[in-house]
Amino acid sequence: MRSISNGKDRQLTVGIDIGSSNIRCAIGSIIPDANRVKLLGISSTPSMGFRKGSISHRNQLIEQLEKVLFEAETMADVKVNNAVLAITGNHIRCLNTQAAAALNRNRSNGVSGDRAIVETDIDQVLNLSQAISLPPDRDILHTLPQEYSVDTLKEINNPIGLTGRRLEGRVHLVTAATSAMRNIVDCVEEIGIKVNGLVFQPLASAIATLKHDEMQLGVTLAEIGSSTTDIAVYHGGAVRHSAVIPIGSGSITNDIAVMLQISIEEAESIKIKYASAKASLSSPKLEFDLQTENGDGKRSISEHELSRYVEARMQEIFHLIINEISRADIKESLTYGLVLSGGGAQLSNISALAGDLMGMRVRIGTPKHIDGITDIADLPIHSTTMGLLLWPILSNDFAQSNHISMNTFFQKLIQSFKELF
Ligand SMILES: Nc1ncnc2c1ncn2[C@@H]1O[C@H](COP(=O)(O)OP(=O)(O)OP(=O)(O)O)[C@@H](O)[C@H]1O
Ligand SMILES: [Mg+2]
Repeated sequence: MRSISNGKDRQLTVGIDIGSSNIRCAIGSIIPDANRVKLLGISSTPSMGFRKGSISHRNQLIEQLEKVLFEAETMADVKVNNAVLAITGNHIRCLNTQAAAALNRNRSNGVSGDRAIVETDIDQVLNLSQAISLPPDRDILHTLPQEYSVDTLKEINNPIGLTGRRLEGRVHLVTAATSAMRNIVDCVEEIGIKVNGLVFQPLASAIATLKHDEMQLGVTLAEIGSSTTDIAVYHGGAVRHSAVIPIGSGSITNDIAVMLQISIEEAESIKIKYASAKASLSSPKLEFDLQTENGDGKRSISEHELSRYVEARMQEIFHLIINEISRADIKESLTYGLVLSGGGAQLSNISALAGDLMGMRVRIGTPKHIDGITDIADLPIHSTTMGLLLWPILSNDFAQSNHISMNTFFQKLIQSFKELF
């Protein structure tokens, strides 16, 4: 296996997505000047030691991480040493905020007056926007610029070169529990991988699946995982709202197991084979057999009856999604409606149910901007992992690209944590 340090003879990009149901690792190389990534290797393993965004058994998780990394490296035929990680969980919060800076203060000749805006002015405003009071156990995960104003001019995407006296910036901030971030980073560093950044799951899926027009004219990305459904609402080319709903496709599996009194494993396989998100689109005549614990008597159930349980749970999830969209407080309607990704979006007839309930356009999102062995990764379940590969080239996150450099930030954190013991 060749040892290629990221950023040398070809620029590698690596993503590790630690989910409640699956852990995935992907390795790609950045295609220069194309904003695309060539996928070189991808692997997946059942998740162990991790649930609902937190670590439940550290050693089990590390073992699975080693396995998934080794398989991806073998497939890509490279050895990697850096990665970007996905993060989700109930501890994640978002807020929209703003900050402003005067432009005519620091002139070298001491004369005050209007001057053209430069990069450092934008950095200053974005730095100021991060000055919010946070509890000591939380940190800023993302600082995503929305738009700028220069004096009375509003809704500016890029103010560089404009003249004015006051620059104001609006941003979407995502914050997360410091210990949740620190512990995930620590586990990944344990297997010899330096963490270059953490990405809130729906933001990674969004950059992999959404089109420019969708982000501009309005769309909601819902990443339906196994234990969470993560939301990112876009309008005007920027994130307006993001949230974590603590229910995912795993709840459907649990419902099936409880209702039919079967094991979780059997319920999972029945869901994938026979369940429909819309009961009316499944047949009452098509029946399948259920395994019985002690083998006494054969039981069977129709796809229609099974799908009634599934539809009830999916309705609950879509109502929670509608609640979150209304919190985004966007006056215009979201022209492009809803894009569904994550493993839960692979449930059959899910877009038909979502369209009926939500009264908006719905499509299933699959990863874009990826070349190479795309046939393996061309499914909604891979959106987050592919988004992690694209993050270094497509994201405009100020927190991670500038003043909070994840390397130094987390190294310091972890170092100080280790020094305690
Ligand atoms: N074809 C399918 N039909 C229905 N559900 C499916 C299908 N394929 C996968 N799923 C479901 O998707 C879920 C796994 O999706 P995913 O890998 O995105 O979750 P995760 O990332 O591990 O979880 P989380 O993001 O919540 O931590 C499982 O609950 C699985 O049952
Ligand atoms: Mg996930």
